[in-house]
Amino acid sequence: MANLKELFIEELQDLLHAETQLVGALPKMAEAAHDQRLKEAFTKHLDQTQHQVERLKKVFELVGEKAQPKPCKAMVGLVEEGQETIEEGREKDPISADLALITAAQKIEHYEISGYGTVRLLARQLGQVEAATLLSHTLGEEESADFLLTSVAKPLLQQASLDEMGAEVNLETTPASAEPRRKKASSR
Ligand SMILES: [Fe+2]
Repeated sequence: MANLKELFIEELQDLLHAETQLVGALPKMAEAAHDQRLKEAFTKHLDQTQHQVERLKKVFELVGEKAQPKPCKAMVGLVEEGQETIEEGREKDPISADLALITAAQKIEHYEISGYGTVRLLARQLGQVEAATLLSHTLGEEESADFLLTSVAKPLLQQASLDEMGAEVNLETTPASAEPRRKKASSR
């Protein structure tokens, strides 16, 4: 059981580092979002993430370990990509920028869903019932955040498709002198 406990603690340390980084990244994502629902989704998840950090500390306490983060390189990379997405979004139209932000955020959520799935399983295996319940709670929040992002993306995707269809119609009626615009519209 010593090895399992060690793995459990290491994974908790990874998640603690990951969550702490997200507390810093989510306000930037909320600020960059154009769509009001997306802004709210990020703001809501920031509040949840702050609670998740506290919940993780509680889990460390329950298993008698110090709440020490271990650098989570995966989340460092995902947050860096999120930052790039924000910067690139400044050159894009609002819908495309928001859809790219959602993509970056869902990659982050999926990483967390995988991490919490693992630690919950390990907690159960180690007989840490209370810790498993706390981790289940967070896992549920991460899954809800992921669903919420999908539901925010759907109308944006529909709008993006309508815009593209509109651009196509424009192409058929646009004189040849508007050629550069045609290229831009079709490359989206
Ligand atoms: Fe989280």
